[in-house]
Formats: sequence, C-alpha cells, structure tokens
Amino acid sequence: MSGLAVESLFRVDGIVALVTGGGTGIGLMIAKALALNGAKKVYITGRRAEVLENAAKQSPHGNIVPLQGDVTSKESLVALAEHVRKEDGYLNLLVANAGSSGPGSGSLPHGLKEEKKKTVKEFQEEAMKTPMEDWDNCLRINVTSVFYNVMAFLDLLDEGNKRALYYGGDVKSQVIVTSSVAAYMKARGSGFAYRASKAGVTHMVQTLVTVFGEYGLNIRLNTIAPGLFPSGMAAAFMNYVEEAKKTGRADSSFIPEGRFGREEDMAGTILYLASRAGSYANGAASLIDGGRLSQTSASW
Ligand SMILES: NC(=O)c1ccc[n+]([C@@H]2O[C@H](COP(=O)([O-])OP(=O)(O)OC[C@H]3O[C@@H](n4cnc5c(N)ncnc54)[C@H](OP(=O)(O)O)[C@@H]3O)[C@@H](O)[C@H]2O)c1
Repeated sequence: MSGLAVESLFRVDGIVALVTGGGTGIGLMIAKALALNGAKKVYITGRRAEVLENAAKQSPHGNIVPLQGDVTSKESLVALAEHVRKEDGYLNLLVANAGSSGPGSGSLPHGLKEEKKKTVKEFQEEAMKTPMEDWDNCLRINVTSVFYNVMAFLDLLDEGNKRALYYGGDVKSQVIVTSSVAAYMKARGSGFAYRASKAGVTHMVQTLVTVFGEYGLNIRLNTIAPGLFPSGMAAAFMNYVEEAKKTGRADSSFIPEGRFGREEDMAGTILYLASRAGSYANGAASLIDGGRLSQTSASW
C-alpha cells in the first residue's frame, strides 16, 4: 500500500489511548474517532461511572473502556495509570481533555455587542462577587491536573514508544491537550479564569515540549484549540449565540463557517494528530473554530 494512501496515513491501528473527560462532549467525539479507526483500546475517564458506561457502548468494536477517576486528585491519576500498567503495560496516546468552564464573568456580557456599558463601580462589584475558590478549581482542573496527568502516565508513554505496533513504530507517543480558542481571545466572552487557564496550559505544553526535547524523552505534546462544539459545558453559550442570531446580534461574522463544530471536525483533527499523518507535529496548536478567532480580538 502506498505510504500516501489514506489508510496508511490516517489510521490509528493498534494504539492504546486514554481520553480524560471521554464520556461526554469533545472527549467522546475523540474517543469514538480513535475507536472506529483502528485503536486497540481507548480508555475513557471521568467521575460519573454511568455516563462512561453508556459512552463506551458507542463503539461497535467494544474497544472503548470506561475507567472512573477524578483528574484533580493525584491519587486517582496514579490509580488510573496503575490500571493501564496492569492491563496493557503501555500507552501510545494520552488526551488530557477533561476541563471546566470555571466561574463566569458574572453578568459581564458575552462577546457580542451589548447595550449598556458598565460603570467602574458596577464592573468592580461584579468581578469581586466571584469567590477565589472558583478560580482555584478552574485552574486545578484545566492546568494543574494536566501536569500531573502527563507525569502519572510518563513511563507508560515511554513504554508506548518501545512497543508501538503501527507503522514500524515510528509514530512516537503523544500527549494531546484540549485547550481552547479562549487561550487566544481578548474580546469579552468566556470567563477570565477559563481564559487564563487555557492560555496557561497552552504555554505549559510548549514548555514541556522544550524540556522533554532537552531530556530526550521522545514524547510529543500538542494542543487542540476548539471553537464552539456541542457539549454540556458549551450549551449555555451556544444557546446564547442562537438567541443572538435571532435578534441579528450574531451572524456568519460571528463564526464565518456559519455553524458550530461537528463531531466530524473533531474526528478529522484527532485522527490527523494521532496517526502517521501528524507524526511530525510536536508543540503544534491545532485551531479548529470555523474562523471564529478571525472575527474577534485575539492573540492568535
Ligand atoms: N465545547 C466547546 O465548545 C469547547 C471549546 C473549547 C474547548 N473546550 C474544552 O474541551 C474539553 C471538553 O469539554 P466539553 O466541551 O466536551 O464539555 P463536557 O462535555 O462538559 O466535558 C467535560 C468532561 O470533563 C470531565 N471532568 C470534569 N471534571 C473532571 C474531573 N475532576 N475529573 C475527571 N473528569 C472530569 C467530565 O466528566 P465528569 O463530570 O463525569 O467527571 C466531562 O466528561 C474541556 O477542556 C473544554 O475546556 C470545549
């Protein structure tokens, strides 16, 4: 088969992957894409066992495996890694996807044109209502847990390199972190803690790429920066946008593609990164937003 044929470039035959937050939303889109395109096993993790069990049924091959765990607990991450160590002994792909939207900006408006500007006092009062713990929780799941998640699975990813089954073992083990367009946005929209967390985790990934290179660890790291995809987390914002469309406050100038992301968009992105096709990507950020960032004040 030609090395340039789609089967050779984009399949993920034989890999063992683990997707945190894989029971719902973007994580489930990712897990399904891997499971339906050759993965030997795709562990999906989250705190709710029933959600995971139902999600696992979505692969006809029985290769999505639910694994309950809380990524904000170091003990839980170590237990997840221990389970994979006993069952498989290696991991080819870790998708650190679990996340939280964190505290909103209170009634500070979303990124669409709003009627009334706030006074300094109103702005200040609104911002100060948010408990600091809400910021801490957001950073804990979106940044801190990603660091410990990577470290808990590091030896298994190393083993993944030694036992890579596909394409002569030349697709190196990888961590993919679900970041967000929020990492780059400056205009009003998602909360400040969420923005800071996604920018922070994006930079942390860049730092890990550099340090892993210096240490010769041979484990790649990349980020995905999705725009708006249907999920429990995104529902409120998507409803808001739908409403704004009706009143003419959002149109295709909001998302040039004129639609939210679909599971096929996420599947294409993850299959590119996880397969031979994306095996030269290391430290890359895959923006998948239908053009949303081009329509707003952003640092991309
Ligand atoms: N949807 C979008 O438009 C969008 C855009 C950009 C980025 N993202 C990012 O995409 C990722 C997935 O979000 P989503 O939109 O798909 O929302 P979602 O469906 O609400 O997914 C969040 C997942 O994370 C899991 N999770 C949350 N806290 C956890 C914890 N402490 N331990 C383990 N798992 C935990 C949840 O499962 P349990 O509650 O069962 O634990 C859930 O499966 C997030 O990092 C988010 O920031 C989403």
